[in-house]
Amino acid sequence: MIGVYDSGVGGLSVWRELVKLMPDEDYVYFSDAAYCPYGPKDPAFIVERASAVTDFFLEKGCELIVVACNTATAAAISHLRAHYSIPFVGMEPAIKPAILRSRSGVVGVLATAGTFKGKLYLSTLARFAGDVKVIERVGEGLVETVEKGILDGPEVEALVRRCIDPMLEAGADHIVLGCTHYPFLQPVIERLAGDSVTVVNPAPAVARQAKRLLGKIKDPKQEQSIGSTEFHSSSKDVSILLRLASL
Ligand code: DGL
Repeated sequence: MIGVYDSGVGGLSVWRELVKLMPDEDYVYFSDAAYCPYGPKDPAFIVERASAVTDFFLEKGCELIVVACNTATAAAISHLRAHYSIPFVGMEPAIKPAILRSRSGVVGVLATAGTFKGKLYLSTLARFAGDVKVIERVGEGLVETVEKGILDGPEVEALVRRCIDPMLEAGADHIVLGCTHYPFLQPVIERLAGDSVTVVNPAPAVARQAKRLLGKIKDPKQEQSIGSTEFHSSSKDVSILLRLASL
């Protein structure tokens, strides 16, 4: 079983790539919606939540955990790896491929405040940015709108515009989605950004990494999986979670 964890519904954007790549595996998805959003929260609190969710996955019998949340990866993945023997796959900030492919020399990154403060993001930026100008914007209001299941319309457009307009004005030709909630808004972001901008979603690469890792640890004698997903949430209302999972 593979545990997939996010502060809310955003991790579904990674889960759907995992299912596409490994349809026969069994998954347990955990949405920590009672505590969403993680973005502005204290990293110590996120470590606590990530540890509690890991304990839950271990009780379920998971053999691999995908932290399908950039903010939780930034705050908690080194703690999790140091305290548990189960392997974890975290979110990679996809700024490296965007920087390497940029022709205009300007790249936009959309993420939460917590992700921008993370060591992995800062070290990747320091290593690869070079002469490329990286414009960071916290996606204010975007997680909340996706959690409500509102994925398009004038309000969403206004929120997206506020985030991406400064990137477009500066000449960005790539916009990196540094939060797993944002791929649900990718059609709006692409429409508003126009054809000359590539929107980068790291989820497929994270799913490939999970597959590689699973191939290394999987016990060939183990019971055959059936290709199922169990959905769990720390909030009582799971209607949006199930709706977005069926998209
Ligand atoms: N989906 C999350 C991420 O990738 C968390 C967003 C939030 O809870 O603020 O960062």
